[in-house]
Amino acid sequence: MLRRLILHFVLFVLVSPILSQNVAPQTFWPAALPLAVRTPYLNAWQPTDNGTTPLDIWPYFWNYANGPLGWAGHIKVDNTTYRWLGGDPGDSTANLTSVQVTLTRTIYYVTAGTMDLRITFLSPIETSGQAEDGNVYYAMSLVSGTTFQTGRDQDIRGSFETNGSLLDTQDTDYRAINDDFPVFAIAVDLGLITTTANPVVWALGYVRNPVIQYTTPTGESQLRYPYWATQYSSISDVINEVLSDFNAALGRATDLDNQVMAATSNISTNYTDIVHLGARQTFAGIDITVSKGTDGAWNMSDVKIFMKNVGTDR
Ligand SMILES: *[C@@H]1O[C@H](CO)[C@@H](O)[C@H](O)[C@H]1NC(C)=O
Ligand SMILES: *[C@@H]1O[C@H](CO)[C@@H](O)[C@H](O)[C@H]1NC(C)=O
Ligand SMILES: *[C@@H]1O[C@H](CO)[C@@H](O)[C@H](O)[C@H]1NC(C)=O
Ligand SMILES: *[C@@H]1O[C@H](CO)[C@@H](O)[C@H](O)[C@H]1NC(C)=O
Ligand SMILES: *[C@@H]1O[C@H](CO)[C@@H](O)[C@H](O)[C@H]1NC(C)=O
Ligand SMILES: *[C@@H]1O[C@H](CO)[C@@H](O)[C@H](O)[C@H]1NC(C)=O
Ligand SMILES: *[C@@H]1O[C@H](CO)[C@@H](O)[C@H](O)[C@H]1NC(C)=O
Repeated sequence: MLRRLILHFVLFVLVSPILSQNVAPQTFWPAALPLAVRTPYLNAWQPTDNGTTPLDIWPYFWNYANGPLGWAGHIKVDNTTYRWLGGDPGDSTANLTSVQVTLTRTIYYVTAGTMDLRITFLSPIETSGQAEDGNVYYAMSLVSGTTFQTGRDQDIRGSFETNGSLLDTQDTDYRAINDDFPVFAIAVDLGLITTTANPVVWALGYVRNPVIQYTTPTGESQLRYPYWATQYSSISDVINEVLSDFNAALGRATDLDNQVMAATSNISTNYTDIVHLGARQTFAGIDITVSKGTDGAWNMSDVKIFMKNVGTDR
């Protein structure tokens, strides 16, 4: 049985002094890099085809619907703020040295001033979860130096640039997304360091429940639920598991990457590249679901995978 987690996307960042990593030059440039790609609705990509560095461009949903995702990443090094994700103007862009796409991870090797960053977008594929209208969850463990803020995008980025931290305040003037762009930001102050002992880890999940309204072969309308919902009693349980199980999940993902790498690399590096990217595209199209039986309990003998037409019409 697969393990079931909802939070499909885990982002972690390692920081170390520059020149400490010897990175092979980039040879594989898909038109879009998978960032958080796990289901038809958790499907975030970084375009690379715009003639500029991908670090300068907002991530998008697979078909560019509804504008950019507005995910922004900044790092302040020696009092200078650099942008490593997203297209908001202002700070200088960090330099992208190399990118690696595996079955479960997209890794950006980046330099920002005197520091190297290794930014990993992990989408564990042993997991499942998601629906039509959904809820988004952002989470991280409370580590020393963590601050947060909700409010107008420019104010929050300004707080970070000025103070290197956020104000731990909430903006309760709930409003439309394009009305003074409300954002939710988390920052971690790493202090005076030359290297991070542990990565800084953020998690993002998207929950749709039920997943689909399905017409059975006998013509009945049936609601179907994400399979992971059978394994957890609440969303907080899921978030806790994602964060506490992170190191183990990363280990399992890396093992799987390495197995596929070994099995494909003796054919050719091009084959390795396309198998890894193809697997990401496959998981971008599927949802694993379960129904409830006539007794109202999960019907564990009725598990179905659904595929959505993602991409073939473009
Ligand atoms: C690519 O560049 C064009 C022209 O500058 C712009 O209109 C478009 O929004 C850009 N696409 C992305 C994904 O940033
Ligand atoms: C950091 O930069 C700001 C503005 O760029 C400047 O006012 C401040 O003095 C600098 N701080 C240090 C410690 O260099
Ligand atoms: C990016 O690389 C260029 C050329 O080596 C360098 O001048 C610039 O300072 C680097 N930018 C950052 C943010 O490290
Ligand atoms: C910087 O921090 C100080 C002290 O917490 C605060 O008063 C000020 O508003 C902050 N600046 C910004 C731009 O958020
Ligand atoms: C490639 O490696 C796999 C796994 O080690 C092996 O089964 C296969 O025979 C190898 N293929 C070639 C063409 O060497
Ligand atoms: C890999 O792909 C590149 C770019 O399409 C091509 O130039 C190269 O010949 C391919 N290598 C192999 C071993 O097929
Ligand atoms: C569970 O699903 C199976 C397969 O669709 C079906 O045969 C069975 O009647 C269902 N059980 C209940 C309790 O509804």
